[in-house]
Amino acid sequence: MKKVYVIGIGAGDPSDLTLRAIEAMRAVDVFFFMDKDGAGKENLIAFRQEVLTRAVPEASYRSVHATSPERPKDGRDYEKGIDWWRGERRRIFREMLSELGPEETGGFLIIGDPALYDGTTQILHELAAEGFEIDFEVVTGITSLQTLAARHRIPLNRIGEEITVTTARLLAETEPEKISNTLVMLDGRATFLHFKETDLYIYWGAYLGMEEEILIAGPLKEKADEIAETIETSRARQGWIMDAYLLRRP
Ligand SMILES: C[S@@+](CC[C@H](N)C(=O)[O-])C[C@H]1O[C@@H](n2cnc3c(N)ncnc32)[C@H](O)[C@@H]1O
Repeated sequence: MKKVYVIGIGAGDPSDLTLRAIEAMRAVDVFFFMDKDGAGKENLIAFRQEVLTRAVPEASYRSVHATSPERPKDGRDYEKGIDWWRGERRRIFREMLSELGPEETGGFLIIGDPALYDGTTQILHELAAEGFEIDFEVVTGITSLQTLAARHRIPLNRIGEEITVTTARLLAETEPEKISNTLVMLDGRATFLHFKETDLYIYWGAYLGMEEEILIAGPLKEKADEIAETIETSRARQGWIMDAYLLRRP
């Protein structure tokens, strides 16, 4: 049966690769890349290439690239749109995986860890449920949230606290009093500004693990505008931004 590794490669620094990730990469005959068009695409491709150069310097693999279909926006016919999108992603995966010989091993390189806001394992499960013969294994990676905590030298929770991980879209609908220890991903639009008048603290990071890394922390009241401005100037300078943050009660 065809074998595929889904390999977490860390958020942005190739030194965060695990030994298991390197071993898995060395066993791969064909790497599959499915990227969204848009800002940041080139940077993510460059990061993965750097990881590959470090882990498999002899470059003894083939690469197959595909463009990810755009996820439908909220609105009329949203559910129909999502069905189409999921089907399209399965079709593209089938097509890519057909490049794999019966005894060969494939690999997907996932930013951070495959368990956090990444659809690869879900698509592979859907294909398996449709009868597509594939054996796959997940190799964990260091997530952007772990990197955020390490850079700010904080634990993600203090004693006995719960942690919520959410998206900027969901955060925007959250009542301020419901936020006690909330990690926010998929933003880039300074959604924390909604909570500027609260007593929350923010631990913010952009381009984590990369050369351009930026860290800012402090009371949200004092830091919100500075971070929002940093997001705008960085996006203008780099052409893209990827950020994550923790909002926490003092
Ligand atoms: C599609 S999710 C993927 C998360 C990834 N699987 C992980 O384990 O971190 C993309 C989001 O992760 C966060 N992220 C990933 N890499 C990052 C980085 N190097 N710096 C800051 N945020 C990052 C951002 O919130 C970004 O919008």
